[in-house]
Amino acid sequence: MMEGFKKIKHPGSYIIWFVSSVWRRRISVLAVVILTILLIVCLEYNVTKEIVQNTLSRQESNAGAGLGAEIQAEAAGSIDNDAIQKNRLRTVQFIDDEGFATRDTVVDVMGRSGSARMLDDSSISRRNVNSDYNKRNLKIPYIPNHRIVHLDLKGAPPKIAFIRKLFVLVKELGATGILLEWEDMFPWGNNLKNLAAKNAFSRMEAKEIIVVAQKLNLEVIPLIQTFGHLEFALKNKEFVHLREIPESPQALCPSLNASLEFIKDMINQVMQLHKNVNYLHIGCDEVFTLGRCSRCRKKLRDELFLSHVTQVAKYIRKRYPYVTPIIWDDMLRVLPFSTLDQFKIGKLVEPMVWVYAENVYRFVPQTVWEKYQNVFSNAWIASAFKGAFGETYYIPNVKRHLDNNLKWLELMSIEENRFKNGFRGIAITGWQRYDHFATLCEMLPASVPSLAVNLAVVSHGYANNSLREFLHKTLNCGITSSMGAYIHEPNAKDSFLNLDSDPFLWDQFSRCMFIGSQFYRTLSRWHTLEKEVNEYLVKIKSKRAWLTDYNVRRNYTSPLRVDELMEDESRIYYNLLSMIQSVNDALDGIYDKYTIAEWIEQTIYPTILKLEELQKVSKKLRNMHTWPRRPLPRLNDLQRLGVFAFSSDGSNINTTALRSV
Ligand SMILES: *[C@@H]1O[C@H](CO)[C@@H](O)[C@H](O)[C@H]1NC(C)=O
Ligand SMILES: *[C@@H]1O[C@H](CO)[C@@H](O)[C@H](O)[C@H]1NC(C)=O
Ligand SMILES: *[C@@H]1O[C@H](CO)[C@@H](O)[C@H](O)[C@H]1NC(C)=O
Ligand SMILES: *[C@@H]1O[C@H](CO)[C@@H](O)[C@H](O)[C@H]1NC(C)=O
Repeated sequence: MMEGFKKIKHPGSYIIWFVSSVWRRRISVLAVVILTILLIVCLEYNVTKEIVQNTLSRQESNAGAGLGAEIQAEAAGSIDNDAIQKNRLRTVQFIDDEGFATRDTVVDVMGRSGSARMLDDSSISRRNVNSDYNKRNLKIPYIPNHRIVHLDLKGAPPKIAFIRKLFVLVKELGATGILLEWEDMFPWGNNLKNLAAKNAFSRMEAKEIIVVAQKLNLEVIPLIQTFGHLEFALKNKEFVHLREIPESPQALCPSLNASLEFIKDMINQVMQLHKNVNYLHIGCDEVFTLGRCSRCRKKLRDELFLSHVTQVAKYIRKRYPYVTPIIWDDMLRVLPFSTLDQFKIGKLVEPMVWVYAENVYRFVPQTVWEKYQNVFSNAWIASAFKGAFGETYYIPNVKRHLDNNLKWLELMSIEENRFKNGFRGIAITGWQRYDHFATLCEMLPASVPSLAVNLAVVSHGYANNSLREFLHKTLNCGITSSMGAYIHEPNAKDSFLNLDSDPFLWDQFSRCMFIGSQFYRTLSRWHTLEKEVNEYLVKIKSKRAWLTDYNVRRNYTSPLRVDELMEDESRIYYNLLSMIQSVNDALDGIYDKYTIAEWIEQTIYPTILKLEELQKVSKKLRNMHTWPRRPLPRLNDLQRLGVFAFSSDGSNINTTALRSV
């Protein structure tokens, strides 16, 4: 190739050479052209289908290269298998860096090419330009008018004494209100009495919680789900008929008159306890099964959703004229402006725009803000301080939550002017479970440092080490040591609270005496112990060769090696038992006995069981004194897997055949 090129001397001959090369390879060239055209056609065809996956894997290259489209597609499939064929809106769990599904959802917008582009690369770059341009509006520090703390009570009621202290603390940290998500902890009565867990608050207790907040001048915003996430209600036998699809208690069927009556009943019970509130959050997020039943399938999904929401909102506004309904915005993100406008949703509810991941514009890009500004005259924001980065986390990663909150402050200052009345404020959410059926995620006492840091930052409008002293004072860290730490830490100036090296703040906040700090410290020990146990089990089960499943199944091992491998076991086992005691002590006074037992069962107990099983099998193995000659008989169950295919004998290895090989 190079040689042929050198032979050509003057410019004209380049063209001749080029044309003749093309002519010589006309077949290949033609093939390439056809293939390219085919590829473009295919891409065009698939573009809407793959838009979410593509954007995710391309833009978030740090989101774990392997965890791309397939996992997300799978996650989507588990929610709504036939969404793709039906060209319907679906919600996809976003998988974060470490492979955990985060609470954030990417709303897929297949079949709506206009809005589909909102997740496209081109709009991302356009948006970056825009936001640079908009930085002229940047008000630093930006302090949201309302700083609301979300108290998610579902299936884990903290004791009133703890809630009382928590409210005092959040007030000191700059909170202006509480978003109270009662779920099954509300003292539901009459027809709805089965919505209440058996350990729900009594009416007296519920009133007390409200009064404590009011006395601190905290705005109380009750939250009740009125569409999706009604698992706590629809799981009950007497409400099965209100489900959208019989096999899932996730969402209500909006086409039944009884559904609205049921929601009205809920609203009235909550409003009866919450007198004189200004806002009522009516949920309406993640209605996964929207439009699936035979009644609903006849209607347009967008209209189904908006017609239910507007009916609920109109009811509230009519019966409680002083109350403004708020809804989560995720279902609105993909709806076209014309539909939102047609239902006059902007006159009825205020949206709470939620993103808990760091990159907030990725989930709510400029096009959505443009739409919202034409529909609503104000909006709320929701960030998170716990319960967003891993369904089974027990301690929140403060660094990631802080990034999320800082990104929101920046966005709020940039986008504020879009809305006639600006942003109402921010709600910092703290999820207790990812939904009603999920196990517990980070507990409140484990998350007080994260709440404190994020709330302090949001209330001051900035995050730098000027806040350190305030935080140390509020969390009772002792002034002298805090000043010492401030002066001696070499990176103190560059990194706020050294979050890069101390994302859970254990190094810095473990000595502090805040509510729940005993549990917070215990978790730091659990973190170390958990790691030790897991490493030990991996060693026993797969790195070393004498206590693997094979050895156990076959009673075939060396007793000396078993003794050696079991040497560490009893120490670890007793550490686990003592850990359970510590957790029990630390949570006593914060949660009821059911919640404490649930946490222990979910977190520590499985490891106890594994070690006890190990004790049992090692004892059995130690009882062997003689061992069979090899080869050991083939495992019968391998037959099922086709391993015996070449043998006429069904159960045992043909040693004659083996020897002759
Ligand atoms: C539902 O309510 C509407 C109006 O409130 C009424 O016209 C309709 O007949 C009702 N449907 C049923 C099944 O009761
Ligand atoms: C932190 O930020 C605030 C507001 O921008 C500023 O007034 C303060 O001087 C900063 N402190 C430090 C240590 O950078
Ligand atoms: C293993 O040994 C125990 C006795 O210690 C015996 O009861 C058990 O059946 C043996 N299992 C196998 C698979 O040989
Ligand atoms: C085992 O293999 C030998 C040699 O291939 C064969 O002659 C014999 O029949 C086999 N025995 C059984 C039980 O299949």
